[in-house]
Amino acid sequence: MATGFTRTASGVLMCDGVSLEAIASAVGTPAYVYSARAIREQYDSLDRALAPVPHRLHYSMKANANLAVLRVLREQGAGVDIVSGGELYRALHAGFGADAIVFSGVGKSPGELREALAAGILMFNVESMFELEQLNEIAGEMGRRAPIALRVNPEVQVSTPHHYTRTGERGNKFGIPYDEALDAARCALELPNIALRGLDMHIGSQVFELEPYRDGLVRLLALHDQIRALGATEIRYLDIGGGFAVTYEDEQPMDVDALAGALLPGIRQSGLSLITEPGRFIVGNAGVLLARVMHRKKAGGKEYIITDAGMNDLVRPSHYHAYHAVEAVQAREERSVVDVVGPVCESGDFFALDREVEDVEAGELIVVRTTGAYGYVMSFNYNSRPRVAEVLVDGDRFAVVTRRERYEDLVRLEPDHLDWSTG
Ligand code: LLP
Repeated sequence: MATGFTRTASGVLMCDGVSLEAIASAVGTPAYVYSARAIREQYDSLDRALAPVPHRLHYSMKANANLAVLRVLREQGAGVDIVSGGELYRALHAGFGADAIVFSGVGKSPGELREALAAGILMFNVESMFELEQLNEIAGEMGRRAPIALRVNPEVQVSTPHHYTRTGERGNKFGIPYDEALDAARCALELPNIALRGLDMHIGSQVFELEPYRDGLVRLLALHDQIRALGATEIRYLDIGGGFAVTYEDEQPMDVDALAGALLPGIRQSGLSLITEPGRFIVGNAGVLLARVMHRKKAGGKEYIITDAGMNDLVRPSHYHAYHAVEAVQAREERSVVDVVGPVCESGDFFALDREVEDVEAGELIVVRTTGAYGYVMSFNYNSRPRVAEVLVDGDRFAVVTRRERYEDLVRLEPDHLDWSTG
């Protein structure tokens, strides 16, 4: 698993050729730091594993939507998987061709459908009969034929670290229930402004096992046979979604060669092109949140390390009780059991609880690891805290790829003089 983060002989944490101390001095803290090299390596490892069959990698940009990160992936040959009009805008802005975009999501608005049709995207992953009919109508109004895949809930057993990130089990809100999918396909084939191009599933996020992918694929291929028997001629793609696990603590990440071994024979036999939508696998391990220790504090028999980053900057520990490793930038021998917390006025504002952590003192730097995915993108302004900077390291250079918000940014959208209306 490529991370891009290594230590010098004297124990200083580096991101490829750049020291995190240098980044903190230049950019300040907190800041997210990403390794372009690690992102490329992760992309390439999956691309290589899938090489035996025709395939497309559509990076799920909800994991990390920074324009510079998107451009690194575009240069590697990636497409994107989007879930909103905002992501469509970003993807086009980053230079992706419309034909490199698939549009997922359980609730797409009429406006978003129109925007994506006007752009000419590769495919809509349609999640309900309602969406199918609405898309048909809007496409008709625009004089277009909408290319779609049906996102089917394969209803397989999936285990992920948190139940919020399971999507492919019976009863989830996502996708068309398996036993309704054939009817949906029949309907798609009859609608004049719909072109049925594929079948799609996404079973969950941070999935370690191969079985749910294999089971889901078997179910989608069976469905494909049934749909072909209805006379479908345009189905070309089979999209297995994303979800491939990375290492947060000491877990084995998804072995993409084993995944390929399990899936490619079936794909090859079907004659379809494979689509994947990985997010976390591409960027998760390639990023850290760099923060400074403000002080240490003892209270109620516990010890706290209070950092300048908080739950608004990285919500995963609080929201999913997710494990993220916390390390000192300058390694230290001595350790204590502490809570690593932020300055936000919530008891849920923590990165680690009752964890043995190096004895970092006020003013020293720490990193919260494996935060390249679902870190900055899930940050918010609670407590009127400006959102942090993002930095991309490429070899021995680094650049700020998102500026730190200033106080003025916090009030930018709030007028001082109110323009009242009556209604
Ligand atoms: N495709 C679809 C349709 C998705 O909904 C997702 C993620 C992906 C692909 C990419 O999944 P990945 O390869 O990144 O696992 N905020 C949560 C994760 C939510 C994932 C939502 N969907 C977290 O921080 O763990």
